Amino acid sequence: MRDPVTIFEVGPRDGLQNEQRLIPAARKVRLVDLLSRTGLRKIEVTSFVSPNWVPQMADAAAVMAGIDRRAGVTYAALTPNLRGLNAAVQAGADEVAVFASASEGFSRKNINCSVAESLARFEEVMAAAREAGLPVRGYVSCVTDCPYDGRVAPAAVLDVAAALLEMGCYEVSLGDTIGAATPETTGALLGHLSARIGPERLAGHFHDTQGRALDNIRVGLDHGLRTFDASVAGLGGCPYAPGARGNVATEAVCELMETLGHDTGIDRARLSEAAAFARTLRSDA
Ligand code: HMG
Ligand code: MG
Repeated sequence: MRDPVTIFEVGPRDGLQNEQRLIPAARKVRLVDLLSRTGLRKIEVTSFVSPNWVPQMADAAAVMAGIDRRAGVTYAALTPNLRGLNAAVQAGADEVAVFASASEGFSRKNINCSVAESLARFEEVMAAAREAGLPVRGYVSCVTDCPYDGRVAPAAVLDVAAALLEMGCYEVSLGDTIGAATPETTGALLGHLSARIGPERLAGHFHDTQGRALDNIRVGLDHGLRTFDASVAGLGGCPYAPGARGNVATEAVCELMETLGHDTGIDRARLSEAAAFARTLRSDA
C-alpha cells in the first residue's frame, strides 16, 4: 500500500453553493450526516459569507447547529472576513478557510477587492482564528486560468500561496476554479511552487469542467501532494466563475486512489449512499 491520501470533502459547500434553488437546511444536514459515516475525516460544511453574494449559504449557522458530529471528523467552513470568522466560531466550526485568488479579475468578482486587499483582510481573520484556537486553511483560486483574466502565471500563485502560509495557514488548496488546467499547466505550476513550498502544505482542488481533474490529480500525486478536494456526486461550481462545473466527484477520486494503492479510509458503499442522496439535491434532479 502506498502513502495514505486525504480526501477533503467540499460538496456541501462548494457543491451546493452553486445550486440556484434554495435547499432546506435539513437536507444539507442530512447530506453532511451521510458523509460523516463514510470515513471522510474532513468535511467543508458551509460558508459564512454575505447572503447577498451567495444566498444558498445564508443558513450556515442552522446547518452547523443541525449536524451530528462524529469523533475524528473535522467540520470546516469558509470565512471571507472577520464577521464570517466570528460567526463560524459561534457555530462551533472545527476549522475555517480564507480564500484568495491568484488573479485580480476573479478576486474582484468573488470577494469584491484586490488580491492585496484580501490578504490584508485575512490578517485579522488569522489573528482571531488563532485566538479561538482554530486551524485555518487557505485557498488560492484560478491557479492556472481565470475566467476574467485568462492564463495565470505560476509566479502569481506562488506569491499568494506563500503569503497565506506565512500568515499561518496550515495548508493551501490550489483551486482550478473553472476546470481549465491540463496535466501540462498543473505540472508547470507544481514544479514552480516546489522551489519554495513543500508538497505536504499543498492540496489540489480541481473542478472537472473539461473532464481533466483526475489526470491533474495524478500529476499532483507525482509531485507529492497527498490531499485532494472533491465533491460528492460531483456537485457544484462557483457562482462567480461562469462555466465552472462541479469539483471532481469524491467517488471517482476514491476509485482512482484505490486503483493506485493509496488508502483513503473511505467506505465506498457508504459513499455511494451519500452520493445518491446528493444527486436528489441538484436542481436538475
Ligand atoms: P462586500 O459587499 O464588499 O462587503 O462583500 P461589505 O462588507 O460591504 O458587506 C456587504 C453586505 O454583506 C453587508 O450587508 C454586510 O453586512 C454583509 P448589507 O448591509 O448590504 O445588508 N456581510 C456579511 N454577511 C454575512 N456574513 C459575512 C458578511 N460579510 C459581509 N461574513 C464579501 C465582500 C467578501 C463579504 C462578499 O464578497 C462575499 O461574501 N463573497 C463570498 C463569495 C463566495 O462565497 N464565493 C464562493 C466561495 S469561493 C470558491 O468557490 C472558490 C473555491 O472553491 C476554490 C476554487 O474553486 O478556486 C474556494
Ligand atoms: Mg471550488
